[in-house]
Amino acid sequence: MSAGPAALPSALERVVPLLRCPLCREGLRPADAGPDGAVARAVVCGAGHSFDRARHGYLSLFGPRGRRFPGDTADQVAARDRVLGSGLFDGVVGVLAEVAREAVADGGPAVGSRPWPGPVVLEAGAGTGHYLAGVLDALAGIATATATATGAGIATATATATGAATGAETRGTGGVLGIGTEISAAAARRLARAHPDAAALVADTWEGLPLADGIADLVQVVFAPRNAAEFARVLRPGGTLAVVVPGEGHLEPLRTAGGMLAPAPDKVARLDSELGGAFEPGPVRVVDRHHEVPATVAVDLALMGPSGVHLDRARLEHTLGPGDRPVRVHLEVHTYRRPR
Ligand SMILES: C[S@@+](CC[C@H](N)C(=O)[O-])C[C@H]1O[C@@H](n2cnc3c(N)ncnc32)[C@H](O)[C@@H]1O
Repeated sequence: MSAGPAALPSALERVVPLLRCPLCREGLRPADAGPDGAVARAVVCGAGHSFDRARHGYLSLFGPRGRRFPGDTADQVAARDRVLGSGLFDGVVGVLAEVAREAVADGGPAVGSRPWPGPVVLEAGAGTGHYLAGVLDALAGIATATATATGAGIATATATATGAATGAETRGTGGVLGIGTEISAAAARRLARAHPDAAALVADTWEGLPLADGIADLVQVVFAPRNAAEFARVLRPGGTLAVVVPGEGHLEPLRTAGGMLAPAPDKVARLDSELGGAFEPGPVRVVDRHHEVPATVAVDLALMGPSGVHLDRARLEHTLGPGDRPVRVHLEVHTYRRPR
């Protein structure tokens, strides 16, 4: 086994033809191998801009203004990881998977006519990649079947090679490509390990996505910034945008007890006016369940959110006490379609 620099992780390699230089908007390609034959770890554009892959497996693609703010802290990301790992939000994964299956079944430009011939899912502000990974798992069978049936060379070849090398139980088929973008370096480290078919990019949603036009079948955004014009640009005609927002009473009564910020009451009305110009509104699905969560999860729920940076773990543990806490998970998954 070589001790030299590793090649780009497989999903990062596959995403390169879909990327655009964040500085000049030209296409990117893998840099040439080094003089000693060492595999290059950078991507470059025709104008000579070069972007290195971090050793943690993500690619940073900042525009001229660089990283303007750090995004979620390592503590927030770790708390979020534990909460998501507890299964509390699995209902949302299920709904997003359903939306994704419909988005992919809805067709688009002929498979094989795009830089990546299988389905492409983008999550902006993807955090740890929990939801993206869930959706990629849900699409894996469909993507492989589609790619094989239509003879889409790259996807079929990759899927077959992966399956042969690692066994059928291994996650990831190569037929579907996930792209997660994040501004937080701590989140990107986890995102890069979220799923073998997910490429992790560090980029600022507000500054424009480092992606070519019309490459995605589905864009999903879960509690993260929304840039309607950019989402419309990177979606193919007829592509789906799924936006998850908190419903009324989400996380109560814990939210009030733990001193967490309440979501803006007009959030949903704002969503439609914000996205309505570029998208046709589609169905809204609701997840509304009451749970009892252990004290550790209750504390992490408070620490992972926007109030988390202002809250103190010890004080929260004291306030919330050692027992299980009731909590309502009430989320709305709004879907939109980019007009054909
Ligand atoms: C509330 S968290 C949600 C993370 C993930 N979607 C989830 O639900 O698990 C919001 C995420 O958006 C990221 N974020 C904030 N501003 C961003 C920006 N301008 N561009 C990209 N990501 C951003 C944060 O770092 C954070 O990970």
